[in-house]
Amino acid sequence: IDELVGEGVSGKRVFVRADLNVPLDGDTITDDGRIRAAVPTIKKLAESGARVVVASHLGRPKGAPDPQFSLAPVARRLGELLGSQVAFATDTVGDSAKATVGGITDGGVTLLENLRFNAGETSKDDAERGAFADELAALADAYVSDGFGAVHRKHASVYDLPARLPHAAGSLIATEVGVLKKLTEDVERPYAVVLGGAKVSDKLGVIDHLLDKADRLLIGGGMAYTFLKAKGYEVGKSLLQEDQLPAVKGYLERAEELGVEFVLPVDVLAAPEFPDLKTKAPADPTVVAADAIPAELEGLDIGPESRKLYAAKLADAATVFWNGPMGVFEHPDFAEGTKAVAQGLLDSPAFTVVGGGDSAAAVRQLGFDENAFGHISTGGGASLEYLEGKTLPGLAALED
Ligand code: 3PG
Repeated sequence: IDELVGEGVSGKRVFVRADLNVPLDGDTITDDGRIRAAVPTIKKLAESGARVVVASHLGRPKGAPDPQFSLAPVARRLGELLGSQVAFATDTVGDSAKATVGGITDGGVTLLENLRFNAGETSKDDAERGAFADELAALADAYVSDGFGAVHRKHASVYDLPARLPHAAGSLIATEVGVLKKLTEDVERPYAVVLGGAKVSDKLGVIDHLLDKADRLLIGGGMAYTFLKAKGYEVGKSLLQEDQLPAVKGYLERAEELGVEFVLPVDVLAAPEFPDLKTKAPADPTVVAADAIPAELEGLDIGPESRKLYAAKLADAATVFWNGPMGVFEHPDFAEGTKAVAQGLLDSPAFTVVGGGDSAAAVRQLGFDENAFGHISTGGGASLEYLEGKTLPGLAALED
């Protein structure tokens, strides 16, 4: 972006593809982390006299306008954060967009309505996506890619649009990619990777790519029970992906050959039923050994001994990547495991990276100061796909 700004952007319409896909409760934004992360690039362009046209997706509407996915609340919040009004276009490439963009003055900022209200944005058909990208390109003189959370999507605004305009990477993209490089190339050791979340199938690609790079992999969350079962333990009513057992067994064996340590829970907090996340009624969990979970119980968090073990495994690490909660942290009875890992990251001298929208939201919801972590990624799927070694369409599109 420095190069683009250096060439002079004053009076130019600069399209910024951001990822402002934030969680909403009605029209209340429950976590504005992604909007805050988008501010530096937008500010820089505005202060340089550009006419900034910001665009993003929100949620997964079905290619047509749908009020529950409107970016209107985001425009208000963005305006508050920028300290200046953001003009909101009530469509993306229609009359409102054309008039709003046409009316921006130098240094002004406008936000277009949800890109995904147009079927061309996410279309699998190159021509349909291309036609929508043409319409977007007509609204701008240059393109800045700064929506890191969406760079793994081969979508019109991410992949096709940069080919149609002079383009640059924004500062958020530069930071995120710099951090992810540190996790895959010349990593400082010991390197600990903490993986949680419900489904082991979502994490196999990362395990596969990082197995020969990490020194230890700490496993928690719902996915841990498939690992425990693969070791031959009883997991009761806990979440289990039977079809993934052969793959997981394979990784356990490969880790042993490579001398990489898989750290699994030694005890878990279990209850007869999944807790009520609305009422948060007490669930009276029991601590049980991880190698013998009773048939009538479901494991819902790592237990107290596991918390100590995981903290110890983080204490002497030099690099830590963490993605996914250790338990059902949304319920207070099952939040301690996730809190212990967050605290373990903070207490460790390591360079710590929290990846994934959910993990970032968990850290903030549990009351931790996000600035105390080395880096909190704004990308969930995007950071995981990068760590799987995949080519991300939105980054490839910038490389020429
Ligand atoms: C995310 O929340 O991970 C990004 O905004 C991408 O959203 P998507 O998974 O709906 O493409």
